[in-house]
Amino acid sequence: MQTIEYQEPIIQIKNLTKKFGEHTILDGLSFDIYKNKITTILGFSGAGKSTLLKHILGLLRPTEGSITVLGKDLNKMSEVELKEFRRNFGMLFQYAALFDSLSAYENVEFPLNEFTKLTEYEKKERVEGLLRSVGIKDESFKKLPSELSGGMRKRVGLARGLALNPFIMLYDEPTTGLDPITTKMVNDLIIDTAERNKDRGMTTLIISHDVRATLKISDFVAFLDHGKIVEYLPAEDFKNSDNPLVKEFVNL
Ligand SMILES: Nc1ncnc2c1ncn2[C@@H]1O[C@H](COP(=O)(O)OP(=O)(O)OP(=O)(O)O)[C@@H](O)[C@H]1O
Ligand SMILES: [Mg+2]
Repeated sequence: MQTIEYQEPIIQIKNLTKKFGEHTILDGLSFDIYKNKITTILGFSGAGKSTLLKHILGLLRPTEGSITVLGKDLNKMSEVELKEFRRNFGMLFQYAALFDSLSAYENVEFPLNEFTKLTEYEKKERVEGLLRSVGIKDESFKKLPSELSGGMRKRVGLARGLALNPFIMLYDEPTTGLDPITTKMVNDLIIDTAERNKDRGMTTLIISHDVRATLKISDFVAFLDHGKIVEYLPAEDFKNSDNPLVKEFVNL
């Protein structure tokens, strides 16, 4: 494996092992995710990508090893501390996971009501700004998720994910199951969001199957196989990896 020149880590994973009963899902995995960059973790179905993401969020505890996020060792945090700590993360799920009974506006307002003491006026400024920044027009603010297209739901989900100014924005399979036009839109939105939040040091972490999009939008690409990171390179070098598994995946 080639090595990456020095980058400032924001997530540090050391010897992470996770066993479910007899099954070792993550197998002594070590790697860092770098501040201010877009990193994508690729891997075949069942490789352990979602399991890894859950550890980074502190939703699962390691069997062995440690995860340090923003300098904090998650093993040393209580459930209550972890819940609070998760404010540092924004998350866009595969199906956007909006609240069906809330409008686009109310979906984005939700985390602000939960976690902040902003005034009504401050909230309005923030929600409208976020919705506009992801390309939602004012006339759609009051629409319910069922009245929005798949692409627009993603936009609203992203606005909600950004509501608390997260340090780390996570995307789980952001383009899986989308048509090519919407896929391009979501990829552009990811890059645009990373750019717009660069000044405040936001990091982007993506989990994906989509090799072509990954190579286009990422700074770094990691390949997870059988619970280990078997390749980790700048995107432009990744497609030339001589790891046979990576070659197979890239050429699928
Ligand atoms: N809570 C659990 N208990 C037992 N086994 C689990 C649990 N969660 C995940 N696994 C197993 O761990 C393995 C990795 O699952 P994971 O969901 O992390 O894979 P993945 O890489 O995200 O796959 P996909 O691309 O299909 O989403 C699978 O074999 C899965 O069955
Ligand atoms: Mg998964």
